Amino acid sequence: MRKPVMAGNWKMHKTAAETAAFFEKFAPLVAGADHAEIVICPPFVNLPAAVAAGGGIGIGAQDVFWLKEGAYTGEVSAPMLAAIGCRWVIIGHSERRQYFNETDETVLKKTVAALDAGLKPIVCVGERLEEREAGATETVLEAQFNAGIAELTGEQFARLVIAYEPVWAIGTGKTATPEIAQAAHHFLRREIRARFGPEAAGACRILYGGSVKPDNIKGLMAQPDIDGALVGGASLDAATFAAIVHYP
Ligand code: PGA
Repeated sequence: MRKPVMAGNWKMHKTAAETAAFFEKFAPLVAGADHAEIVICPPFVNLPAAVAAGGGIGIGAQDVFWLKEGAYTGEVSAPMLAAIGCRWVIIGHSERRQYFNETDETVLKKTVAALDAGLKPIVCVGERLEEREAGATETVLEAQFNAGIAELTGEQFARLVIAYEPVWAIGTGKTATPEIAQAAHHFLRREIRARFGPEAAGACRILYGGSVKPDNIKGLMAQPDIDGALVGGASLDAATFAAIVHYP
């Protein structure tokens, strides 16, 4: 049995005070919800506020640099994140690929750095609209998997979570249908099996992301290869995200 992961990606939203206010409301709403691992990923500056207010809720960053320290103005390293009680990190989100030159190569370097520091990476893959329309979804997923994930050792792979996020479904209100998402998740699990073996494929959590809302989470989670969600907009409101966490 794969334990679901319900992760909120706040992107560039909320101040430290708003972060504390969120947890004050959210923590009681999800107290006792142990059917899933719950993760909230605020902007870097609000990680300490989230760790302080979060109780048992997992806290994650939205990015990380691949070196431990040095002359890299503006960057934050994995050991720095681990040292403040951050336990997760999103890597390779499509917005980082689109606006900040993230590549499969940097995704791999960041994933290894995060694992070395004991963080749990949520590695994002997903096709753009024109790629889906050109019938290239599986080719794109395979390329991202091969260049960004398949290079890991089996021991490293066992400690990460994958998020399938079709770029055309992010922030657009266009959720992939449960069937479309399932097909992509199934394809990814096949890739995992081919590279890391059946046990790793059976154990790996693959999250869906892209316009997840309280009214579509149940259908998504009913799919055999969907093991949780990476939620953007709908994770900003405590009651809404709690409703998603409580999908069963
Ligand atoms: P969304 O974002 O839920 O607002 O579509 C998902 C994501 O980018 O992780």
